[in-house]
Amino acid sequence: MNESIVQNFLKQLQAAMSQLNLYPANHPNSEAALKRGWRATTELAGDDDVVIGLKGYAFFLNGELLAYTSLMYANLYQDLSAREVEAITLAGEIDRAEFAQFVQFVAGDTDDFPTGGTIRINESRLVEGDDTSAFADLRFSYSGVVGTLRTLDHRIAREGTFEMAPVMEAVEELIDQSLNANAAALLLSTVKSHDEYTFYHSVNTCLMAVATGQYLGLTQKDLVPIGAGAMLHDIGKVAISPTILNHPGRLDREQWKEITIHPQEGAQAIMAAGGPGHEVAATIALEHHARFDGLGYPRLGPDERPHLASRLVAVSDVYDAITTRRSYRRAETPHRALQILLQGAGGAFDPDIVKAFISLMGIYPPGSVLSLMSGELVVISHHTGDFSELRGVLVRTAAGEDIEPEPVTIHESQVGQQILAESVGIEPAALLDRAGVAETVLAPAVPQVDEGAIERLGVDEEALKDQATRSLSAIVELD
Ligand SMILES: [Fe+2]
Repeated sequence: MNESIVQNFLKQLQAAMSQLNLYPANHPNSEAALKRGWRATTELAGDDDVVIGLKGYAFFLNGELLAYTSLMYANLYQDLSAREVEAITLAGEIDRAEFAQFVQFVAGDTDDFPTGGTIRINESRLVEGDDTSAFADLRFSYSGVVGTLRTLDHRIAREGTFEMAPVMEAVEELIDQSLNANAAALLLSTVKSHDEYTFYHSVNTCLMAVATGQYLGLTQKDLVPIGAGAMLHDIGKVAISPTILNHPGRLDREQWKEITIHPQEGAQAIMAAGGPGHEVAATIALEHHARFDGLGYPRLGPDERPHLASRLVAVSDVYDAITTRRSYRRAETPHRALQILLQGAGGAFDPDIVKAFISLMGIYPPGSVLSLMSGELVVISHHTGDFSELRGVLVRTAAGEDIEPEPVTIHESQVGQQILAESVGIEPAALLDRAGVAETVLAPAVPQVDEGAIERLGVDEEALKDQATRSLSAIVELD
């Protein structure tokens, strides 16, 4: 079965659930969403029972792991789990009214759900599978962080506060998983969600900032608050209206003013949350749009530079944003994104950090889709330390035939053209779980630490703490 049919079912289910949270079931919006959901369900159902299983943050189709789908629908997983759904069975041709009842149940509108219909909950006798892939733990942590972030976002929107402890825990778990599987984590950070951009963008920024910090020689102790700050850097956006956030074209003065306040709002929320490492996290939120050359917002003092942690996050933040399609602009290729970072080195960005970032990612970063001179199509997973040697998977032959991904090593001189992954329907992170890819990605290859970087960058713990305090006093002044 094509995974995209399941994805469409989950997407429409999620959409129908959110409509039911906003409107009654007989509202035209709900009715339209339920109709689309029913159609998607009908497409997935067949003569034999189809079972969608849920276990350990992963979705299974008839016992088979849906690795990439699980990442994309981490929040839906959370919602279904909250309703104690462990298996959804589609038994034959789906009755439309029963589908509507099902959505009402999982959306929490009713606690009654009849058994024995064409759509059933927790009635499967099929044993759901186990996620035994090499990246199960990493994926589990990724989904966990997305879930934590969403819960926190709702909490801030509702109550104006949140707690730091679950964030630190989730980030620590993600860092533990990613430090030993650096190349896999970077490939995973290419996951894009257009519906829930901010959550996935924040987790990707966190993964890349942590990998760069690790490359620079920062210890795990330093990396946890940096990861938390990276994850929470845009948390202040919760106060901005979505119309402004997704506004195409230029913003007017008032709209821009509203946007530029999000770093302070975020820093204040993190300061109010308190907890270990909150100063560094708050500093990152405050300074992630402050430029290396002193421009940007908020303006720092005349001789001040953003905190090292903020400079680190700024590079990953911009890289992920550029490589993601938004409603108002297209995505750029990873290689092009590096060129933009290089152009900004010394201006918007710390040149040493840009350099470290490129050394870590390689000239053609993980997730790059390259068309070779020969006509073959390759997705890059990582470089080998020698910039000119790239590892990845072959996905299309010279004759234009799509094949089951096959690990390959290529030389930079073979590269013909870079292609936008989504323009050819490729999800680079989905390749992680394909046969043979795990071994290649897990092979120790990328140089882990740039010796002497800490001294060069002037990382001195006491000085950094002082700077965090100074930056945070700026919040008070700006208020
Ligand atoms: Fe931001």
